[in-house]
Amino acid sequence: MSIIILGIESSCDDTCAAIIRDGILLSNIIAGQEIHKQYGGVVPELASRAHQQNIIPVVDVAIRSAGISKSDIKAVAFTRGPGLMGALLVGASFAKGFALSMNIPLIAVNHLHGHILVHFIKEKENNAQQPEFPFLCLLVSGGHTQLIVVRGFLHFEIIGTTIDDAAGEAYDKCAKIIGLDYPGGPAIDKYAKNGDEKKFTFSIPSVRGLNFSFSGLKTNFLYFVRDRLKQDKNFVVSSRDNLCASIQYTINKILCQKLQKAVEQTGIKEVAIAGGVAANSALRSSLKILSAKNDWNLYLPKPMFTTDNAAMIAITGYYSYLNKKFDSLEITPVAKYFTL
Ligand code: KG4
Ligand code: ZN
Repeated sequence: MSIIILGIESSCDDTCAAIIRDGILLSNIIAGQEIHKQYGGVVPELASRAHQQNIIPVVDVAIRSAGISKSDIKAVAFTRGPGLMGALLVGASFAKGFALSMNIPLIAVNHLHGHILVHFIKEKENNAQQPEFPFLCLLVSGGHTQLIVVRGFLHFEIIGTTIDDAAGEAYDKCAKIIGLDYPGGPAIDKYAKNGDEKKFTFSIPSVRGLNFSFSGLKTNFLYFVRDRLKQDKNFVVSSRDNLCASIQYTINKILCQKLQKAVEQTGIKEVAIAGGVAANSALRSSLKILSAKNDWNLYLPKPMFTTDNAAMIAITGYYSYLNKKFDSLEITPVAKYFTL
């Protein structure tokens, strides 16, 4: 009998629902929230209200476009955290109500596990190779930057983390400094294609071990732009592409250097990336070159699976289901996890 899982993701500003049958993706629906653009970042209260409006239609579309009926669903998986509490509460409450009314198990998913397990989502066609355990995962999102040894579907070990800002946050903050819309990563990626990555030099922080730091880089960028603007008030406009290419080059260099160090330290040459920043085209190209040079098996998720989505929650729910890892209706969302 097929195992059909409904996944719900509402940790930030996207309301998402997906259906996975026996590990194969049947539907993956995302309702974004345009409202935040005018504020230059996500406004938690507005996100929570938009999730309330979107959740039922999004789940309805996910079920209908999967070509299944509600009663075929064997379990509902939802993002427990980390994320914005008000936003998480909407997904959690919906999932609990759904599980209770359909009398099916509830599965609480760590959003970060979801990002990593996208590598195991199967599609009806064009299936990519899956990493073998243990593999190294560079998880780079708006809220997290971590190096993780993945030992099994539900077995993760953090070996490096950011001590301040996340890589995605660095992209977003630098983008804001030069007047680009939130989220800044995709815009920087786009403009960087026409720029010179060596035009401006920003400092690579020296952080011990496998940890990362990005807050100094953001300040470095801020002061650099501010000083140049004093000399030329058109500096940002005339240098936008070069600024984007140079900051992207620096952020990606930090990521690649630490990843290379992690491979050397662990001896693991199965290497994957995940999270929103894994969509970055320059990072993907650099990693392809690095992996060819160093003989790694590199796994790049499809760009649609890098940023927040519910397919990643459904696939994690699927492996939790196989392991009979269910949660009670008393479970509450968490804004922050202290371990993976
Ligand atoms: O994983 P995600 O969707 O949400 C979190 O869990 O945080 O990641 C969002 C982050 C944002 O900071 C966004 O700017 C960044 O991913 N991002 C990118 C790109 N696409 C999204 N950063 C660089 N290049 C991109 N193409
Ligand atoms: Zn995420």
